[in-house]
Amino acid sequence: MAERKRRVLTGARPSGLPHLGNYYGAFKPLLELQESYDLFFFLADLHALNGGDSAAELRQQSMVMMATLLACGLDPTKSLLYAQSAVPEVCELAWILGCQGPFGMLTRAHSYKDAVAKGLDVNMGVFNYPVLMAADILLFDADVVPVGQDQKQHLEMTRDFAQRFNHRYGQVLHLPEPKISDELALVPGTDGEKMSKSKHNVVSVFATDADWKRQVMSIVTGTQSLAEAKDPDACTVFTLYKLLSAAPEAAAMAERYRAGGYGFGHAKAALIDQLKLVFGPMRELYFDWLKRPDDMRDLLLRGSSDARRLAQRKLEQVQAAVGVIGRPF
Ligand code: TRP
Repeated sequence: MAERKRRVLTGARPSGLPHLGNYYGAFKPLLELQESYDLFFFLADLHALNGGDSAAELRQQSMVMMATLLACGLDPTKSLLYAQSAVPEVCELAWILGCQGPFGMLTRAHSYKDAVAKGLDVNMGVFNYPVLMAADILLFDADVVPVGQDQKQHLEMTRDFAQRFNHRYGQVLHLPEPKISDELALVPGTDGEKMSKSKHNVVSVFATDADWKRQVMSIVTGTQSLAEAKDPDACTVFTLYKLLSAAPEAAAMAERYRAGGYGFGHAKAALIDQLKLVFGPMRELYFDWLKRPDDMRDLLLRGSSDARRLAQRKLEQVQAAVGVIGRPF
């Protein structure tokens, strides 16, 4: 039998317009894996329910997330693209896993502790978040799970759940390996801090020319005069330009910074041009997809029915292992 390709699985909560930090920290590295791995990507829309969005907002954000991924190159003929909410087996597995999850362990989850520390209204969705996430992953025998640093503990919990389960019921669940990306930290926002939606310092991946201009013009720079030599590595404009450019182009800009006679306004104009060059074509695709929500929904539902077939097979094994009657698929 041919050996199956290693399986990468990840999900994202539908959470608004993507920015450069999301693109370079998450989407781009993920989509590069599409060639060498079997890629599973799901819209974590059930996870999104413990946020405060209205139904209309959630629907809209889901379409934004889909259009983003499709525009960035997610290829539904190569990868499996599905919605968490369209695979109810995830919730069934989450219940079973929850029965292996010590309450004390879950109280130590950062997601829960942060919500408590902020005095937020902690619902059971927040508390059970790591259980649902473990089910997302273990239901599909994922080998590798790319996530940000903030999700590392959730991945450890996933492995912990799988180990507890296997110890009690036999080797049924496959232990995933995390692939933690630190790259997000490398993408500075307009204020020089890490780029983050909540800090209102983003440069968007897809924006109108006017919005790109406004965002880039708001980047905080040094106070040197036009004539003075400048240190490129201390400048957010240069850091972003470098991210978007090939090495020789970045080196040429660095040279101009060091030579003097090159102002931050010049660098900002070059960055705007570069945004148009790099993301212009993707932006067309993005706005195009957004106009076709029904097509995106169809794509998602088609992927979801393929995902369900796999999920049902796995859940059957799990049900047999734990001794419940289960249901005929
Ligand atoms: N918790 C992840 C986040 O907030 C999203 C997510 C849910 C996820 N389930 C997952 C990521 C399973 C990877 C695998 O970013």
